[in-house]
Amino acid sequence: MNPSRFQAVIFDLDGVITDTAHYHYLAWKRLADSLGVHFDEAFNEQLKGIDRMGSLALILAGSPRSYNLEETLALADAKNRHYQELIGTMSTSDLLPGAVEALAAVRAAGLRIGLASVSKNAFTVLEKLGIADRFDYVVDAALIARGKPDPEIFLNAAERLGVAPALCLGVEDAVAGVSAIKAAGMFALGIGKPEVLTEADVVIPGLAQFRLADY
Ligand code: BG6
Ligand code: MG
Repeated sequence: MNPSRFQAVIFDLDGVITDTAHYHYLAWKRLADSLGVHFDEAFNEQLKGIDRMGSLALILAGSPRSYNLEETLALADAKNRHYQELIGTMSTSDLLPGAVEALAAVRAAGLRIGLASVSKNAFTVLEKLGIADRFDYVVDAALIARGKPDPEIFLNAAERLGVAPALCLGVEDAVAGVSAIKAAGMFALGIGKPEVLTEADVVIPGLAQFRLADY
């Protein structure tokens, strides 16, 4: 029986189900260093939930020279190849605490489960984590024109799950992601700190505190 007023839960991936932020940091850091652009952990925080080209644009804004489209694409590709090397070693041990239990609870309650990550590596990461088969629908980020905070990715997930946005619960760790969920007309469950995720309807520290019947 469904103990929830929702019919679907749509999860973000990075920072919610697994913590890939450090791998993104290492890959961007090596690129930025090679270009002589300052980049640190604090800057990396701003890139959470922001897609690859958007992240690169923010990093290159700190460069004294400009890059044309061809150069920019080559830089994004170099970062991604390094990132893929880094995530190559990921396994089920990289699942954040409570992630599998939360997915199981949503499944047991009979709700639909979606994934709305702007990462073009999301399918690979899900396979590495051993949870690819737990989702009814995984958005292909390559088909999404506008990144978070635009609601497009969450609306796409809801549509493909066949559930009205108002009956969807979105789960996000990034400020831009929570904004996207709210702009989609969904209930936003923030993962992190309430003082950061001010737009979220409810904020919990991590999926270990996920209680579907409470929302
Ligand atoms: C998001 C991350 O999930 O995916 C961002 O929070 C990242 O930091 C974005 O830039 C895009 O990832 P990818 O794998 O397509 O480069
Ligand atoms: Mg995230």
